[in-house]
Amino acid sequence: MYILQREPVEYCGSCAKTAKITHAARFQGNKCTLVRELKMIQTSYWLEQGKKNAPRQYAKDRLVMELLRPYFVPGSILELGAGVGQLSSILTGMGFDTTASDVDPEIVEFMQSQRIKSMIVDARHISQCVQTTFDNVLASGITPMINRELGVQALEDTYRSVFEVLNPGGRFIVILGTGYDYKKKFIPIKEHFPIIRKTGFTLLHYFRNQLFPSSLYSKFPKKLLAPMENTVARWIGTRYVLVCQKGLRVEG
Ligand SMILES: C[S@@+](CC[C@H](N)C(=O)[O-])C[C@H]1O[C@@H](n2cnc3c(N)ncnc32)[C@H](O)[C@@H]1O
Repeated sequence: MYILQREPVEYCGSCAKTAKITHAARFQGNKCTLVRELKMIQTSYWLEQGKKNAPRQYAKDRLVMELLRPYFVPGSILELGAGVGQLSSILTGMGFDTTASDVDPEIVEFMQSQRIKSMIVDARHISQCVQTTFDNVLASGITPMINRELGVQALEDTYRSVFEVLNPGGRFIVILGTGYDYKKKFIPIKEHFPIIRKTGFTLLHYFRNQLFPSSLYSKFPKKLLAPMENTVARWIGTRYVLVCQKGLRVEG
């Protein structure tokens, strides 16, 4: 994701980058003709956001991964659109064989510099990027699953591409935002359901989580927050969790 100084935000359909571009620098049609020029002044937007936000989100991320632990089947996890790789690090610490990934090479370079096992993967074409299959795939707020501008095709391509690389009985855990702003700018959750069915997944669980803004999770004791996250947040939390499964149901 590349960011310049001025609006509007536009999307390049061929390289999956979104950019805030000046009126003088526009993507044309479905082709990103200006990537080379833009590179002169770009910084990786999500890398900067991730570096800034990860420390204050750590306590929340840790709690959420602990709560989601029972929904992963034992074995490997591929995280898509991992940003700075915080969720993958936490899952590795919990004993999962985790591989972080992102479509942005700068982000992957950063994760590798942090010794996080990571690789470049486009969520819409995973099997073109990796030769192996996985027991679980995790995607938290990744661009092709939320960005309205990319269209529902990117969402469907992502579900299909995950289905392809999951082992039978494997799980695809998707975390998405909610809220009015979310509905206006991003693909609403109800548009996921027909695609989940169409691509062959079974939706095992669907609930909300995260009751409070991320930064508050480091201020309150986990003993207080965990029970709230396990109960009331499931109904009125600010995020959705979808647990999809490929093929036969495996309890866990
Ligand atoms: C909103 S950030 C989420 C980062 C992280 N998952 C989190 O929860 O903090 C969106 C991420 O999706 C990544 N992304 C964008 N297009 C992608 C694609 N086609 N495949 C995989 N990741 C993509 C971006 O590089 C960025 O890291």
